[in-house]
Amino acid sequence: MREPLNVSTEKGISRRSFLERMFTATVVGITAPSILSATIIPKIALRENSLSGLYTIDLNAVVALQNVLGSVRLSIREIDSRFRIVVTRVSEDQFEAVYGRCPHQDFLIRPRESTNDYLICSGHDSRFQFNGTLIPGFGPAEASLKRYTTSYDGDATVTVEIDELASVSTSESSSSYITLHSTGPLDNQVVFKFGISRPEHLVLSLLSLDGKEVLRPLDGLLEAGSHHLPCDLSSLESGLYLYRLTSSTAIIGTGKVVVTK
Ligand code: FES
Repeated sequence: MREPLNVSTEKGISRRSFLERMFTATVVGITAPSILSATIIPKIALRENSLSGLYTIDLNAVVALQNVLGSVRLSIREIDSRFRIVVTRVSEDQFEAVYGRCPHQDFLIRPRESTNDYLICSGHDSRFQFNGTLIPGFGPAEASLKRYTTSYDGDATVTVEIDELASVSTSESSSSYITLHSTGPLDNQVVFKFGISRPEHLVLSLLSLDGKEVLRPLDGLLEAGSHHLPCDLSSLESGLYLYRLTSSTAIIGTGKVVVTK
């Protein structure tokens, strides 16, 4: 696994702590005694055009993962209020982490339940191995779940690496989403594509990596449905930025965008 960057400048520290706070995760078990288990502040690996998060789960705090076949759900609200990962302990020294939304219609994948030796979709009962591989013959899903890298220290922590943290694509089959759809005909012209299921007041912000809003291409009431918003980023310095779409009640999604000059 790649180590996070050693960011030592004052600006670097403020960037890192902003990003760490931004992408904080919560871990939830669905069976007692660990209904709400822990909050995890990640280590962020910031590279030229990418952002990865290392999420270290303390097994002393997350009781559900202390035993083989224990399973929990990890959520990172900032990526998208629906973003989930399911982490399962598959042996004494091995853990699996997979995307927790079904490729069929985006329903939740449940953490392992009762005596099952598979994960099951809450929508239409498609089944998956703990490593995300689709088990054919159960339900309508036709693709496997994305698998994330895990590493276990042999003692009390397991780390899940979420690569491309700010560009995990948000499924357009869910009711609310945002994607950076395409670039326009000119440099630094981009098109945001997003959808909402009811009229909403939306704010789309461009943020620098230390958390400052540098552009607000959208702030207003929109009708339900799909929308395209062309946006000119040429006024920004070259570098990596985050975009974030919020409604009055939720974060719809966050992604990254690179400006080049
Ligand atoms: S949403 Fe999972 S099987 Fe339909």
